[in-house]
Amino acid sequence: MPQILLTGGAGYIGSHTFVALREAGYGVTILDDFSNADASVIDRLGRLTQGPVDVVEGSVLDRALLDHTFAEKSFDGVVHFAARKAVGESVAKPLDYFETNITGLVTLAQAMRAAAVWRIVFSSTATVYGEPEVFPLTENLPLSHTSPYAFTKLTAERVLEQAAAADPFTVGVLRYFNPVGAHPSGLIGEDPRGIPDNLMPFIAKVALGEISELQVFGDDYDTPDGTCWRDYIHVMDLARAHVLSLEALMAGRGHVLNVGTGRPVSVLEMHAAYQAAVGRDLPYRIVDRRPGDVPRLYADPARARDVLGFSAELGLSEMCASSWNWVQAQAAGWRFNS
Ligand code: WQD
Repeated sequence: MPQILLTGGAGYIGSHTFVALREAGYGVTILDDFSNADASVIDRLGRLTQGPVDVVEGSVLDRALLDHTFAEKSFDGVVHFAARKAVGESVAKPLDYFETNITGLVTLAQAMRAAAVWRIVFSSTATVYGEPEVFPLTENLPLSHTSPYAFTKLTAERVLEQAAAADPFTVGVLRYFNPVGAHPSGLIGEDPRGIPDNLMPFIAKVALGEISELQVFGDDYDTPDGTCWRDYIHVMDLARAHVLSLEALMAGRGHVLNVGTGRPVSVLEMHAAYQAAVGRDLPYRIVDRRPGDVPRLYADPARARDVLGFSAELGLSEMCASSWNWVQAQAAGWRFNS
């Protein structure tokens, strides 16, 4: 059974990828410092995969821990999620983001090289496209950054590209658009700490009654209903893309790919879809634009289809229904979930 090290595997996308990898027949070890994940997720992952979950608690910045981990088990590859990912926070704490997201990646790659573990799937983001002028977004567009967070992801991509020129790394870079939704069991999902930044967890809090109304950040953009377009992709589709990426690396095929649906959705469309999933009105108010938002951001998904045979399958109603199911199960303490 091929063995994979999943850094940040206790997090939102990491936990869903853990389940997908286990179901695909991989052995998976999670390395996580639980700085942005509730430790209870490990028990819930065990319930989902009917077995023990191998966990190494610690940071990718801890080289000795990484060396020990690679000495303990022979890994066939790494899927690297462990990173700080809040755009706004990165503006306030750029050095923390450079340390975790760049130094952390370099430390991990050095430990991989020392252990001759050469396959890595890297979690990147569509914000490496900066403020694009042409749509849909293809992978050959020029890259730029509009935040320290985006700078770290762009730099990490280039670190891996240079490392692969010097050593036999096989690299899969996946540029996510907007991950949303949750596993249908309701046992794992997005679990932001404090007030959510992102749209769907915010609407979910309105649906739970924890927040009184959704604030729609501007309806004067150049889109049909005036609110921003984004390419929301179900986290179950995204997890499946990671399995396919790893399979390509096992066959020696590196890649840099957008992972999106190619179908833009506006803020008001997302609000309406969530309202339909909940079955009652969810109050919202149009407020000023949020600084830094771009009007449109959506993928050309063709290369992922051609290279990995990947296409997103789950639509907006499944994204909203699975999110609503998750937040209700979380509020109930998962007492009633299989
Ligand atoms: C989506 C749309 C908001 C909240 C960010 C990061 C990106 C990635 C995903 C890490 C925008 C609007 C939002 C609200 C709103 N993260 N909105 N009211 O900004 O596209 O992407 O998260 O990889 O790197 O940049 O996602 O969910 O914050 O916003 O109107 O309360 O919803 O203006 O148009 P975004 P988002």
